[in-house]
Amino acid sequence: MSKKKVCRVDEVPVGGLKEVEVEGGLKVVVANAGEGFYACQAICPHQEVPLCEGLFDGQVLTCHMHLWQWDIRSGAPQGLAEAPLTTYDITVEDGVIYLIPPSALDSSELFKGLPQETLAKLQALCRPETHPEGSTLYRVGDAAEDLYILESGRVEFLIGRDDRTTPAGFVLRRGEVFGWAALMDGQPVRIAKATCLEESAVLRINGKEVLKALESDPAAGYLVMRRLAELITRYLTASGAK
Ligand code: FES
Repeated sequence: MSKKKVCRVDEVPVGGLKEVEVEGGLKVVVANAGEGFYACQAICPHQEVPLCEGLFDGQVLTCHMHLWQWDIRSGAPQGLAEAPLTTYDITVEDGVIYLIPPSALDSSELFKGLPQETLAKLQALCRPETHPEGSTLYRVGDAAEDLYILESGRVEFLIGRDDRTTPAGFVLRRGEVFGWAALMDGQPVRIAKATCLEESAVLRINGKEVLKALESDPAAGYLVMRRLAELITRYLTASGAK
């Protein structure tokens, strides 16, 4: 994925913070630590407070509202902070800072904000695939071994058997996760049908391998399972309302 221009290095003084909206709409805060530049999410993970208004000592970023703190290099929480900060890879070329867009895994609703070490393990499990328009990724009743994260394109997701679903399903967006039955124990089967409405790129991950990777980080595993429960509830509630 191509890098995106953030700003010039001389726009962020040493020890300074600057909020920038990158092409595509992602807002980030750039920090100048003296020995290098770092980028992180623009809004505090606690409440809707801009982090560019916080304090930065060259290593630790502090939100001025309730004093949550993070190591700017890793986003790891410190002191009172109860959640990590999402950080972004950047590169500097000819005095310009560029952001290297995160993979769909990093920004996915299920896995975003997990510690870098855990994300790296999950990233290593991802198999990128591209499917043509009209292809069906799976049908109701198929064995569910893999889950998918949408990288680009559009996928329609229909819950229920073909004869019990309405024509309008859910059209998934980038970063959305589907095929989550693969994270269930036992012999999971698909309860939905997923079809590409246009050529679509996905990351495909084996569900059992995801669960194994999360066993080594129980806090991340707990967060993923909580998000999964919310996700399933949301889809089932919405499909019941149709
Ligand atoms: S809003 Fe940032 S710490 Fe509470």
